[in-house]
Amino acid sequence: MTVALPPAPEFGALIPLAPAPQVLEFLALRRSTSAVTLGAPAPTLDELDALLRLATRVPDHGKLAPWRFVLLESDAKAAFAARLEALAQARGDAQAAAKLAKLKVPPLAVVVIASPKPAAIPEWEQLLSAGAVCTTLLYAALAMGYGANWITDWYSYDPEATAVLGLTPGERVAGFVLMGTPREPPLERERPTPASLVSRWEG
Ligand SMILES: Cc1cc2nc3c(=O)[nH]c(=O)nc-3n(C[C@H](O)[C@H](O)[C@H](O)COP(=O)(O)O)c2cc1C
Repeated sequence: MTVALPPAPEFGALIPLAPAPQVLEFLALRRSTSAVTLGAPAPTLDELDALLRLATRVPDHGKLAPWRFVLLESDAKAAFAARLEALAQARGDAQAAAKLAKLKVPPLAVVVIASPKPAAIPEWEQLLSAGAVCTTLLYAALAMGYGANWITDWYSYDPEATAVLGLTPGERVAGFVLMGTPREPPLERERPTPASLVSRWEG
């Protein structure tokens, strides 16, 4: 798909509010794709730029941009996965090694790192904003026609693994957003019924 985003609005520009029925239809039907079904092609560099532009346009209390991205592409992604595999093997953890397939198979991974700033805004809100970045990145990749999946897995939490990634103290992995072209379309998963989750506060 050719990237045809409108130019980024200038600061203070009037942003017209308009219904977007296509977006509603997309939200009603979108589905993540299994990471191990993702192959080439991945988003191009221009498309990746567009995806990152969209992903950083999220609610962000205090305009702190409390997140950053690490791109894992081609040989570098393979080298990163090999470092994690060596970690898993050194621990004799075959299950952890096997779980790396989700990272190895797709051609592109964008790691979203929550990087909370010292500020009056609670850290919780800064972490929620990082989740919004992951969601928006996932949805934008799907809307571009790619397959994508947001995962965390052990290497998002393991201190030795996050050190390989280059996290600094206070940072956390919000997600690995894996992207590529799915070999097969996804099947619908079970969904909750909104009514079962809702109550009305009555005092
Ligand atoms: C924070 C977070 C972490 C996740 N971590 C994993 C994971 O480690 N492994 C996995 O297979 N899926 C993981 N998932 C993905 C989900 O299990 C599943 O693919 C996704 O919810 C599919 O939903 P969708 O079709 O509505 O997009 C994670 C999802 C979220 C939001």
